[in-house]
Amino acid sequence: MNFFNYRNGELCCEDVKVSAITGQTGTPVYVYSAKTLRRHYDVFRRAFVVTTPLICYSVKANSNIAVVSLFSSMGAGADIVSGGELFRAIRAGVRGERIVYSGVGKTTEEIRYALENKILMFNAESIEELDAIDSVAGSLGTIAPVSIRINPDIDPRTHPYISTGLRKNKFGIDIRHARDAYTEARARNNLRIVGLDMHIGSQLTDVSPIESALKRVLGLFTDLRHDGIDIQYIDIGGGLGIAYRDEQAAQPDGYAAAIERALKDFGGKLILEPGRVLVGNAGILVAKVLYRKQNGTRRFMIVDAGMNDLIRPSLYDAYHEIVPIIETRGRRFKQDVVGPICESGDFFAHRRDLPLLDRGQMIALMSAGAYGFSMSSNYNSRKRAAEVLVDGNNYYVIREREMDGDLTRGERIPPASNSGE
Ligand code: LLP
Repeated sequence: MNFFNYRNGELCCEDVKVSAITGQTGTPVYVYSAKTLRRHYDVFRRAFVVTTPLICYSVKANSNIAVVSLFSSMGAGADIVSGGELFRAIRAGVRGERIVYSGVGKTTEEIRYALENKILMFNAESIEELDAIDSVAGSLGTIAPVSIRINPDIDPRTHPYISTGLRKNKFGIDIRHARDAYTEARARNNLRIVGLDMHIGSQLTDVSPIESALKRVLGLFTDLRHDGIDIQYIDIGGGLGIAYRDEQAAQPDGYAAAIERALKDFGGKLILEPGRVLVGNAGILVAKVLYRKQNGTRRFMIVDAGMNDLIRPSLYDAYHEIVPIIETRGRRFKQDVVGPICESGDFFAHRRDLPLLDRGQMIALMSAGAYGFSMSSNYNSRKRAAEVLVDGNNYYVIREREMDGDLTRGERIPPASNSGE
């Protein structure tokens, strides 16, 4: 459920016409609905009826500090995977004690930064990383709270690029070696074991792989208890999918019920790291039609957003619904919706049934709130889009469109050298 609807033939976000926003910001622009974000968070939180989990919003899905701060003000913590995300979470007002830190490649500097901010726990992904955390904590004279990310070897049945819980993936520690890893961690002077972590993949439309993974994780939890290792937190990551098209995506209540059933013998605190399910359908990318043309049998609609703004179709062949900003009832044609970037991979849709739009008319790429702006780049030296947050009949520019100077910031031309002589 979201708050993007046509009113009198014009696409609105809550009570604001999208065209009123683009009149100020230009295109391409990301538009998010605060009411949708709040609703999604609320539905997700209320789905858990037995436990009161700590919901750590996965910052990578949409990293704008206005979005992180909205969730934080509703009680969320943050799931981060870099020092940069930690910086954002802090800027957005998330307290360290509500931050969990995953990722296979944390640097020494990042570990120090996280320890200085007293995060809730590191989700460590290798023995070498545990050693690094131990040594940084030792040098700071502190004790680092750690959990170990387990790779349960379960197929989440999603796109291979976003599947993370199989043994062949780089993530976590093979569940067959996890007990030993915990014993190793216990032997370190500057580590305190607090939890057990997993995240098997993203855009899961079925909860059964999560249930299977949780069974394995619970088996490990019981083994650890035998070993005298006390687990306070089980972090089961994120991954709940959304409907981009007509997928029958599992809903938060079914997801929560399955988790609570699986964890009924665990007396500790549950941690969740949802990203997409909170923000995905709460955002759109608005672009303007630049040109139309036909090459052979293919009709092209060339728009002013490109794969640098929204890479999901190019990277995962992902489907995003495309609708005109002004409702158009004319004849429809199969069209390729493409951007201005110099690659044939720069497309949003192939042979999509759409009305013929005139130059200057606008379209919305729906469900672009997750992994849209956060994966955008400056490829082809394109300035990254503006971001706007709508709340009722107000809207706020929460990130300015980049300017020419942003493109070359930090770059330098070296003084002419005579090395050729
Ligand atoms: N926790 C960890 C450790 C993660 O790696 C991720 C996502 C999440 C939580 C949040 O997962 P979510 O609830 O959003 O599924 N760029 C891809 C998705 C990559 C997901 C990476 N990890 C896409 O556009 O589909």
